[in-house]
Amino acid sequence: MNVLVCGGAGYIGSHTVYKLIEKGHNVIVADSLVTGHKTAVHNDALLFEGDLRDEDFMDRLFSENRIDAVIDFAAFSLVGESVQNPLKYYENNVYGTLKLLQAMVKAGVDKIVFSSTAAVYGEPENNIILESDKTFPTNPYGETKLAVEKILKWSDRAYGIKFAALRYFNAAGAHISGKIGEDHSPETHLIPIIIQTAAGKRDKLYIFGDDYPTKDGTCIRDYIHVTDLADAHIKALEKLVRTNESGIYNLGNGKGFSVKEVVDAVKKVTGKDFPVEIKERRPGDPSSLIASSKKAMEELGWTPKYNTLDKIIETAVKWHIDNPKGYR
Ligand code: NAD
Ligand code: UFG
Repeated sequence: MNVLVCGGAGYIGSHTVYKLIEKGHNVIVADSLVTGHKTAVHNDALLFEGDLRDEDFMDRLFSENRIDAVIDFAAFSLVGESVQNPLKYYENNVYGTLKLLQAMVKAGVDKIVFSSTAAVYGEPENNIILESDKTFPTNPYGETKLAVEKILKWSDRAYGIKFAALRYFNAAGAHISGKIGEDHSPETHLIPIIIQTAAGKRDKLYIFGDDYPTKDGTCIRDYIHVTDLADAHIKALEKLVRTNESGIYNLGNGKGFSVKEVVDAVKKVTGKDFPVEIKERRPGDPSSLIASSKKAMEELGWTPKYNTLDKIIETAVKWHIDNPKGYR
């Protein structure tokens, strides 16, 4: 297939591009490089540098290339920043995807796999979250992703655009080769920050809140390896082609780890100790997010392979050791 990957120079996008190429697909990447990296893009993919909100750029992209399906990662995704600056998030995440969908309708492309998030649930009503649970985001970032899911639902009915919305829980880890990995600037995600602290690049690790209603008071998250996420995208695309049916899927390992447990796991994997300090809660953080991925397993035939926290951390540590300055 000829697959357009929007945001394919970013963390999860670049891993998915590697997987698509491994499976023999032709890949076109569209990325503004606002948070992505040129060198993260696989050599066999064609990179078009531009913004989804630029109509001329999008029209050129679709008219100059044969595109069978789209995978869309392009968005801003920092929960804390979205609380400080919600308009930035609506502008890029909602309007950007809207422009992409308009270009697809114009070009007659009718399949899209979309990066949604566990943040659509907000404070969950059940310990293990099902796709059918209520969606009530506690931050603007989650709201923007939920808004796009709704746009997709109506675009399916009106224009026949078939979609898979993949609600990832916490993406982590790096490609097994050590060639690509997570390099956000500034980094806000827990696992890379802990690894940077273990490597002596930060004085101490700050834990945002230890008064949550959880086993040790710190937030619980379900960490899922980026290569397993990449694999789910291919499987979701294959299912769209096979069945022509839209769907929403959680993607996680189904196991929750507290911030303190993640800290201990990184200490164990790296053999390094470092200071930890408790700070106030970070606005917008739900206390616990754990996925049921039963639906993705049954309907997509997806099984996560990096299914322990240690395996996930080991690949992230390898990436940081091999690339201490990230892509620079
Ligand atoms: P990332 O910032 O590394 O990648 C996003 C990519 O999109 C970047 O390469 C960026 O340059 C590009 N981009 C952003 N806006 C663009 C625009 N308007 N036009 C063209 N390119 C644009 O982020 P990531 O961690 O790889 O996340 C990918 C997607 O997955 C995002 O949509 C994010 O919301 C979602 N997600 C991430 C996580 C996580 O834990 N990282 C969890 C759930 C969902
Ligand atoms: N945390 C700390 N200290 C830090 C960084 C993070 O205590 O220095 C805590 C956070 O407060 C949170 C947990 O670690 O409780 C995980 O935080 P991350 O920033 O790594 O991830 P989030 O859960 O906030 O968000 C991520 C993605 C979102 C996605 C969400 C789904 O960034 O796109 O996972 O669970 F929606």
